[in-house]
Amino acid sequence: MNRTLLRTADGSATIHIEEMNVTYHSRHGAVQESMHVFINAGLVYYCNARPEKKELNIFEMGMGTGLNVLLTADHAVEHDLNIYYETLELHPLSNEETALLDYGTYVKTDIHTIHNATWNSPVKLIERFTLKKVKQSLIEYRTPELFDIIYFDAFAPTAQPELWTEDIFHKMYGMLTQGGVLVTYCSKGDVRRAMIAAGFTVDKIQGPPGKREMLRATKQ
Ligand SMILES: C[S@@+](CC[C@H](N)C(=O)[O-])C[C@H]1O[C@@H](n2cnc3c(N)ncnc32)[C@H](O)[C@@H]1O
Repeated sequence: MNRTLLRTADGSATIHIEEMNVTYHSRHGAVQESMHVFINAGLVYYCNARPEKKELNIFEMGMGTGLNVLLTADHAVEHDLNIYYETLELHPLSNEETALLDYGTYVKTDIHTIHNATWNSPVKLIERFTLKKVKQSLIEYRTPELFDIIYFDAFAPTAQPELWTEDIFHKMYGMLTQGGVLVTYCSKGDVRRAMIAAGFTVDKIQGPPGKREMLRATKQ
C-alpha cells in the first residue's frame, strides 16, 4: 500500500492511499473535521447531556494517524475527565510515516506516546487518559467492555462496504451503554438505514466544512 502525506485545506496533515483512493480525513481540513465530527458532535455533545459524568469509555474504529486520540486526550485534561479509550487498527502506520505528522501545532499530547504504546493492553498515556490499541479487524473484534461514545471512522462505504453493514452496527449497538452515541462523518442513506435496522435512533446533523451532513446514532 502506497501511503503518502497530504496537506489538507486547514493546513493540517493527513494520509492518502492512492490504490484505494481514500484519505484518513477530509481534504477540507483534517483537524477541523475531527473536531467537528468526533469531539464536538460526539464527546462534547455526550458530556453536555451528562455534566455529572466524569469517567468515560470511548471506542474508536480506525486509529489511523491517532489524531482523534490526541484531541480526545487533550480534551480530557482540559475538562477534568478520566477517559478509557480503546481503538482498533489493522494496518498501523510506520515510524517514518508517523514522523511526518506535525500535529504538535494543534495538540499538547505527544503523538509518539500513542504510536509507541504497547498493542493489546491498556497503557496510561497521561494522568487522565488510558489507551488500549487493538491490532485486529473490526469484523473479528469482540470486547466485554461497554462504551459511552463510539467514533466510527472507517474508510468510506465505497472503499470498505463490509464495515458499514447492519451486522456491524448491531455489534456497535451492543457495545454501547444506554444513552450512548455513535458518531460518523458519513451521511449515506444506506448507512443510516443499516443503523436504524440495528436498533439506533439516528439524527442527521450538520457536517464539517465541505460536507453538508453527518450522522449521530443514539442507543435510546
Ligand atoms: C479513515 S481512517 C481513520 C482515521 C483516524 N481516525 C485518524 O484520526 O487518523 C480508517 C482506518 O481504519 C483502518 N482499518 C481499515 N480496515 C480496518 C479493519 N477491518 N479493522 C480495523 N481497522 C481497519 C485503516 O488502516 C485506517 O487507519
